[in-house]
Amino acid sequence: MALPYQELGVNLPAAIAQATDRQAAMFRAVTTLKEALPHYSWVGIYVLEGEELVLGPYLGKPSPHTRIPLNRGICGAAASRKATIVVDDVNSDLRYLACSIETRSEIVVPILLGDLVLGEIDIDSDQPAAFTAADRALLERVAAALAEQMRPRRT
Ligand code: SME
Repeated sequence: MALPYQELGVNLPAAIAQATDRQAAMFRAVTTLKEALPHYSWVGIYVLEGEELVLGPYLGKPSPHTRIPLNRGICGAAASRKATIVVDDVNSDLRYLACSIETRSEIVVPILLGDLVLGEIDIDSDQPAAFTAADRALLERVAAALAEQMRPRRT
């Protein structure tokens, strides 16, 4: 199946698979998405460490939410449910933790290896209801590619 969004200019899942390590893979995902898609106002990846989501690479305004417990925010909800959450109007969602007053909508896509949560892709938009089925399909493919790069390895 073709990837949504020709504007990406690259096959992002393939580029992630070719990255040298997980850090490079996460940076590649964040920079490509932020640069290619103007409705993505803030793009970041949280990595699950114990019971907290810890902010990794991101582009956009600095967020006060650098560590989010699993029982807080839309981020915590998506990781706990192990499912994508799309919020068309963040101001009417009681779970929402604000990062910028301009933000109107959000999508959070867990990075899953089977049943194991490794982290998540979090994207905010300054436009209401900015995220469609195309965004979800793209980001779930990107998350699957990231999961392979973030796979825990035995040392
Ligand atoms: N809005 C998120 C918090 C992260 S900031 O948007 C970067 C939430 O509600 O979990």
